[in-house]
Amino acid sequence: MFENHQAPEADKILRVMKMFAEDPRPGKIDLGVGVYRTPEGRTPVLAAVKQAEARLLESQETKGYVALAGDPAFHGAMRELALGGAVDPGRVAGLATPGGTGAVRQAFELIRIVRPDAVVHCSAPTWPNHEAILDTLEIPWRSYRYYDAETGGLDREGMLEDLSQVSAGDVVLLHGCCHNPTGADLAAEDWDAIAKVLLKRGAVPMVDLAYQGFGLGLEEDVAGLRRLAAAVPELLLTISASKNFGLYRDRVGVLLAMTETPSFAMPVQDTLAWLNRQAYAFPPDHGARVVTEILGDAGLRSLWEEELAGMRGRVRGMREALAEALRIETGCENFDFLLRHHGMFSRLPASPEQVDALRQTHAVYMIGDGRINMAGLVPDTVIPAARAIATILG
Ligand code: LMR
Repeated sequence: MFENHQAPEADKILRVMKMFAEDPRPGKIDLGVGVYRTPEGRTPVLAAVKQAEARLLESQETKGYVALAGDPAFHGAMRELALGGAVDPGRVAGLATPGGTGAVRQAFELIRIVRPDAVVHCSAPTWPNHEAILDTLEIPWRSYRYYDAETGGLDREGMLEDLSQVSAGDVVLLHGCCHNPTGADLAAEDWDAIAKVLLKRGAVPMVDLAYQGFGLGLEEDVAGLRRLAAAVPELLLTISASKNFGLYRDRVGVLLAMTETPSFAMPVQDTLAWLNRQAYAFPPDHGARVVTEILGDAGLRSLWEEELAGMRGRVRGMREALAEALRIETGCENFDFLLRHHGMFSRLPASPEQVDALRQTHAVYMIGDGRINMAGLVPDTVIPAARAIATILG
């Protein structure tokens, strides 16, 4: 059975994680995988999570199954957090999934069932696992122009031109905020323009929201998404609680499918439950319950919001410190575009050879396409990282 088997290649994010873990050099700097770290380099359990878990430990009386689609209270809490009052809850079917990636996978599975001919359009670039899952499911996908490496910003014209060519029934995948890997986000008027073009083409938006609260703020980060949701008849929304609740390993995600009318939502809800059933039966519940507890309790929620603001502020602080250090090291403003980005990521204009040189010569690790994670920086590593980047790219 296994004589001729060759494992698929790990993606570029996982390759960097492995190389970093194996590097014995003491001063190594990890700007690779997108996880939050404290100035001490830890990915902490949030105090709000600890408190919610303590309450659960006290009060939970059964570990019996919940439901194939997960707890409706969890769907509702996540819907409220992301969409606010933008849409009628009766139009939204929900599915608890193992992490945001599980939600993305199930969204693509759903597309394959309801629209087998659909092409999925991804931003160029996008998170590598979007493309990998689409390939695995043999769903055709194409890239639309998104990031302009010259300006370090959005290629608005290119994007809208490409989106104006998509076919009716196609799906356009967008990042809700904190675009991964570029950090270049859509402005309110971009969301409106996208809604307009998708309505005209009869295409369906799918929004992947993995970093709500890491950009400008909890509400600010979803303002564009809400405008889109209010303007279109159908929407797929995949949400991860890994980063904003720090629940990475507990795998907390949700897929929300917004249909044109409440009556259309019912069969979709049943199909979603079926998708879970034939993949892993019941979704994990613990992390989802923790999130529901936090969002439903005023005290826990304000503690969580405070902690999230702290993480956001630290990441923003590192971004500003790196841009400033790069100004000093290079003597120019070429890296000021970093200041216009949101969230953990930015993309440096680095060739694969330059990325290799940064790793080999300076022990500075980033993804092969030049993506850096600001949350991997701490005050002590800003200057060494800037120096290395300036030496190799300057
Ligand atoms: C990332 O983009 O680095 C994170 O979303 C982690 C992952 O699973 O790729």
